[in-house]
Amino acid sequence: MKIVVIGGSGLIGSKLVRKLREHGHEAVAASPGSGVNTLTGEGLAEALKGAPVVVDVSNSPSWEDAAVMKFFETSTRNLLAYEEAAGVGHHVALSVVGTERLLESGYFRAKMAQENLIKGSSIPYSIIHATQFFEFVKGITDFSTAGNKVLLPPALIQPMAADDVASAVGRIAMGSPVNGTVEVGGPEQFRLDELVRRFLAARKDPREVVTDPHARYYGVELSERTLVPGDDARLGETRFETWLSQPTGQIQSTKPQPAA
Ligand SMILES: NC(=O)c1ccc[n+]([C@@H]2O[C@H](COP(=O)([O-])OP(=O)(O)OC[C@H]3O[C@@H](n4cnc5c(N)ncnc54)[C@H](OP(=O)(O)O)[C@@H]3O)[C@@H](O)[C@H]2O)c1
Repeated sequence: MKIVVIGGSGLIGSKLVRKLREHGHEAVAASPGSGVNTLTGEGLAEALKGAPVVVDVSNSPSWEDAAVMKFFETSTRNLLAYEEAAGVGHHVALSVVGTERLLESGYFRAKMAQENLIKGSSIPYSIIHATQFFEFVKGITDFSTAGNKVLLPPALIQPMAADDVASAVGRIAMGSPVNGTVEVGGPEQFRLDELVRRFLAARKDPREVVTDPHARYYGVELSERTLVPGDDARLGETRFETWLSQPTGQIQSTKPQPAA
């Protein structure tokens, strides 16, 4: 089956494209680098030709409030219009667990706008809410650092490996549209402050985590369960300690990290 992966060069997209190809599918990795730009529409008509499924795992290059809103609104509108014209039968999009509880943040208001456009379109869809990727813990840490201290609340978090996210997205993309939201998460819950302490210890990073119940997460005051999925979430297998001990667990993205 031909499956177009928008954001196919990104962290999740590149893993997803590899997995789909391993399963014998014709996975098209679509991104500006391969001549497909959802903001301008460039290359979309050609890429979508004959594809019953489109997976959107793109992300905005900027997370400034207005820029991220413009990215998700414009790219989603364009993508859905081109999909409608091409007769796409399943639109799959990756979003974040708790998006509806994180609307103090401009990034999550933009993700919510993306979700609402999908729900309002005529194309059958599946929205996947994933928890924070293990690969994103460094981004959370750096964002919350002041001097040598990392200020974090003790809220619960249930992170997962990007590899498990890609597997879950692939499985859902191969299934029938759910016309709703599916949650995926990691196998264990942590306290956010404790998770980052473990991460820093494993990296031999001297920064000190200071627990502060009112410390904000990308500008949002978290309650105990803001970031965790419900009981029906499908869980990935990879444990944080296992990921930390693998060489790939040490490889960090050079890109700035979004508030997800
Ligand atoms: N970080 C987390 O913990 C987390 C948790 C749950 C859900 N999510 C969601 O997961 C999704 C994917 O995140 P990620 O970390 O895999 O992203 P990423 O590594 O930053 O990759 C973003 C992708 O989007 C592409 N892109 C950017 N502008 C584009 C445009 N105008 N047209 C087409 N493609 C464009 C990029 O192409 P280039 O390579 O050419 O720049 C790249 O392939 C995001 O939507 C995010 O909200 C993240």
